Amino acid sequence: MQLQHLLAALEQPSTSMQQSDSLDLHSEITALAYDSRKVEAGGLFIAVPGTHTDGRHFLAEAARRGASVALGEPLPDSQTLPLPYIEVRDVRTALANLACAFYGYPAQQLCTIGVTGTDGKTTTSNLISTLLETAGYNTGLMTTANFKLSGQEWENATRQSTLEALEVQQFLRRALDARATHAVVETTSHGLALQRVHGCNFDVGVVTNITHEHLDFHKTIDAYRRAKARLFEMLDPARDKGLGARPVAILNRDDVSYEVLKPYCRVPILDYGINSAAAVRAIDIRLDAYGTRFRVVLPDAECLIETQLVGGFNVSNCLAAIATAYSQGVSPAVIAQGLATVKGVAGRMERIDEGQPFSVIVDYAHTPDSLEKVLAILRPLTSGKLMVVFGSAGERDVQKRPLMGRIAAQMADFFVITDEDPREEDREQILSEIAAGAEAIGKRQGHDFLCIPDRTTAIQAAFTRAKRGDTVLLAGKGHEQSIIIGREKLPWDDRQVARKQLHNNFGVDR
Ligand SMILES: Nc1ncnc2c1ncn2[C@@H]1O[C@H](COP(=O)(O)OP(=O)(O)O)[C@@H](O)[C@H]1O
Ligand SMILES: [Mg+2]
Repeated sequence: MQLQHLLAALEQPSTSMQQSDSLDLHSEITALAYDSRKVEAGGLFIAVPGTHTDGRHFLAEAARRGASVALGEPLPDSQTLPLPYIEVRDVRTALANLACAFYGYPAQQLCTIGVTGTDGKTTTSNLISTLLETAGYNTGLMTTANFKLSGQEWENATRQSTLEALEVQQFLRRALDARATHAVVETTSHGLALQRVHGCNFDVGVVTNITHEHLDFHKTIDAYRRAKARLFEMLDPARDKGLGARPVAILNRDDVSYEVLKPYCRVPILDYGINSAAAVRAIDIRLDAYGTRFRVVLPDAECLIETQLVGGFNVSNCLAAIATAYSQGVSPAVIAQGLATVKGVAGRMERIDEGQPFSVIVDYAHTPDSLEKVLAILRPLTSGKLMVVFGSAGERDVQKRPLMGRIAAQMADFFVITDEDPREEDREQILSEIAAGAEAIGKRQGHDFLCIPDRTTAIQAAFTRAKRGDTVLLAGKGHEQSIIIGREKLPWDDRQVARKQLHNNFGVDR
């Protein structure tokens, strides 16, 4: 694509061009890159400021790798530049616009569905994609845990929630080339704030709930809510891609986010709820350790839903997915059929069974709210003691640490505090901040709980104590395939570690 055509996609004209004498607007741009290590000859390098580094420090490397031009926000001072540099006011929006143009505006030819919220985004996104697939729509799916397209599923190994706009648009292009008609994109508040889904032209916006998370990044709950609201502001009642998509906002009537988000919606709202008179609601709910069953009441129909997903919050997630599918014309019978086939999402309430006399559950709960909900679900399903092994990530929301300690103290009979992803923080310090929340309500280390940084040893400590009828919850890592200690990303899988330990102690060779 010619540079001049790419630049035409910028919303604000570039503010200035440096070293413009060597800039050829007719030059063919072969690739876009925001990571200088991925620059190719003839590429355009987009210098994005990150949390750790600033792309503007890597202009020389980009030039060395053959970039023909770079683009970014104004440079700090006049310096001799190794390649032509185009200045823009907002580089993240520019990155998204360039990516849209480079990949031929794929979102314009797909019905796009964005799913946001604090907890349940990945689950709900997967459910929506299953329902659309069951209805016969070829659907692309992009989440923190997995990608799906054309019957293939692969893991998201990037450890980044919403990818950068470049990867988002690239995936949408790939989906379109694979003849997808729909795309479901898990949309974090980070992603929204950083313009990563700019240009997705969402037809449908879905919210699960909004509670305490990521306050390190957004600073206040208000800023966090505003970030989530952006998804709904982006929904345009006049949008018509000619695909038969029906613009709609899917809101949770049971959650505080309902009142917060409603004023931002210019498109029709379809709300769902368990405890309120919503347009899509669940009644006669039956929960047990192996599945969930309820009747869903739709505006013009009612049907029985049976699924293997466990836990009350999954009723909410199902309702969000049902409302979304229903809004796009999927029939109640197909919805029921789709949810019956769902096996559960990797690392979400996943049961590990190696013949041990107690239950082991791996769950991704890593916020105070989700930890509390998971423990509340497991309590009535546990005849013996309820134990949990958990931690809290380093270099992320620090306010939640004591809250998580307090919740474990209030809701579990015994717990082990351990590493989640300490990153470059002091591991022991993180553990003691969590412990402080438990100690504040009278729990004692060594008696009611342990602090063991090494996660393998921590899991072992819980298993050693577990007796018949007990439940051990391993929380916080879910499907993740790595643990970040220092700057190193080490291979890790809670399920594998648990399976191995249980197999060695209780397993019968099958
Ligand atoms: N609707 C919900 N409300 C509260 N907690 C939830 C909900 N759905 C899932 N969870 C909890 O959050 C964890 C992460 O679920 P996931 O679907 O991956 O959410 P997200 O993608 O928003 O992080 C689950 O393992 C479960 O413990
Ligand atoms: Mg997720």
